[in-house]
Amino acid sequence: MILEKLIGRFSTDIAMDLGTANTLIHIKGEGIVLNEPSVVAVSSGSEKVEAVGFEAKRMFGRTPAGLQTIRPMKDGVIADFNVTNRMITYFIKKILKKNWFIKPRIVIGVPTCITQVEKKAVIEAALMSGVREVHLIEEPMAAAIGANIPVHMPEGNMVIDIGGGTSDIAIISLSAIAYGESVRLAGDSIDESIVRYLRLEHNLNIGIFEGERIKVKIGSAYPELETLSTEVKGIHVQTGIPTSITIFDNEIRETIQEPILTIISAVMRALEKIPPELSADIHSNGIYLTGGGALIRGLDKLIEERTSLKVYKPDEPLLSIVKGVGAVLDSYEKMKSVCIS
Ligand SMILES: Nc1ncnc2c1ncn2[C@@H]1O[C@H](COP(=O)(O)OP(=O)(O)OP(=O)(O)O)[C@@H](O)[C@H]1O
Ligand SMILES: [Mg+2]
Repeated sequence: MILEKLIGRFSTDIAMDLGTANTLIHIKGEGIVLNEPSVVAVSSGSEKVEAVGFEAKRMFGRTPAGLQTIRPMKDGVIADFNVTNRMITYFIKKILKKNWFIKPRIVIGVPTCITQVEKKAVIEAALMSGVREVHLIEEPMAAAIGANIPVHMPEGNMVIDIGGGTSDIAIISLSAIAYGESVRLAGDSIDESIVRYLRLEHNLNIGIFEGERIKVKIGSAYPELETLSTEVKGIHVQTGIPTSITIFDNEIRETIQEPILTIISAVMRALEKIPPELSADIHSNGIYLTGGGALIRGLDKLIEERTSLKVYKPDEPLLSIVKGVGAVLDSYEKMKSVCIS
């Protein structure tokens, strides 16, 4: 115990949101020190890492032969173990500039319903990057802690975390997930639906990050008061000629409706499956909506309409998970019971 305290004093402990779209790191006592895309550029022959994070995302779709950009996380879990490991190592080295005197402890957020094999992969990838111990916490639990929800109380609270790869729906009570469901469909699927729409309806080929840009610029789940539009540049499917068109929010709203309604169906399923006591709590407490997907215009309103429950959104939904994982790390001895490993 004394030794542990001593080690704690000399090590820089880390909280990480290892997301499909973004990786965020919080250092104990300091706050958020890194927020970068989960993208790595690797040279094909030598497997050498050429760029990570923002720099690699800028290269996406623009790489010459011999260089490829990889998103090593898919659907909230590790899709490419080696590249994920190298990405974690790079980010940790970047924030801990000096040589480590004592290796850090790390707490990492993972989706609910992640398999044992997937958990093991996260733990191993972190250990290989040189940390001394790894703890995992389910992301909706982290989001709830980050929002100051009293997770230890015998009272149900519902969290919906819509990220890039997964939408996690969870009901939390007594420091545990009383009901959890992970739908492997979130921001990325919404972007893909926009790419597909432009190809089929406008004969325009665009990349996935252009699909994301359109979603952020004019995407909405509920009709807005003002009309939004954006110019889209792509390649004409038949002629191969660079072409640009203007598209409007109503087309995109219709296009992204299917993935959004699938996520809302999972929410409805959760509400049907839980016991009446938890259901009554959620009727009084409402739903807490977080993750980058919470920023889709009007999504809170659509969920309110479909569920008849009040939906609350934090000011910075992209930071919710790392804030919660950071809060657990900062008071680790008191909070460690919420970790799952
Ligand atoms: N303003 C915005 N409007 C709509 N969507 C947005 C906005 N900003 C970010 N997003 C989307 O949020 C998603 C990323 O959210 P987040 O960082 O919470 O995901 P993640 O944690 O990396 O993924 P996961 O939790 O699935 O592993 C992306 O799909 C991104 O396009
Ligand atoms: Mg996430």
